[in-house]
Amino acid sequence: MNSQPKLEILFRRGEIETTVKRLATEISRDYRGKQPIMVGILKGSFVFMADLMRAMDCSLEVEFVRLSSYGKRRETSGRVRVVHGLRCPVKDKDILVVEDIVDSGLTVSFFLDYLRRRNPASVKLCVLLDKQACHKVEVPIDYLGFTIPDRFIVGCGIDFGEKYRNLPDLYTMEFEE
Ligand code: PRP
Repeated sequence: MNSQPKLEILFRRGEIETTVKRLATEISRDYRGKQPIMVGILKGSFVFMADLMRAMDCSLEVEFVRLSSYGKRRETSGRVRVVHGLRCPVKDKDILVVEDIVDSGLTVSFFLDYLRRRNPASVKLCVLLDKQACHKVEVPIDYLGFTIPDRFIVGCGIDFGEKYRNLPDLYTMEFEE
């Protein structure tokens, strides 16, 4: 019989807001006098990206791509699917990639390669949550919110089976088999 997954609080909204402000301050300082294009990786990044960009005080543009590799599974399929690619030219532009969570690192690594083939002036990566112990490839994170343990996470844009993205806090999810 399937039992309900159990949620436990990991970070509350207030703590997330403090961290987002810290990242926004660092990023705004580093990009002063430039106009970066923030590229969010959908769907997971949209909540973090909305918070981050509103806390920044430099001039910026916003774009999104939609990549998918988990579908309804709890583990990566290992294959990153481009559901919706970049629609804007990035040649000679400063690009800031915004991602909610890095687990195996395959999604972000795939996207950094995808971007670099299009010859931007610079590429940096901002990540809210990093499961450092789970990386299968090297991931160069420039701005990091939290390092987290190897637990399944939901909330703040992150889903399980498309649910829980709307939760304002971040939770770990336990599955009782
Ligand atoms: C999730 C998450 C990251 C990626 C991280 O996306 O939003 O993009 O997985 O995992 P990785 O480091 O192992 O590649 P998912 O494929 O579930 O799509 P979603 O953002 O639409 O939920």
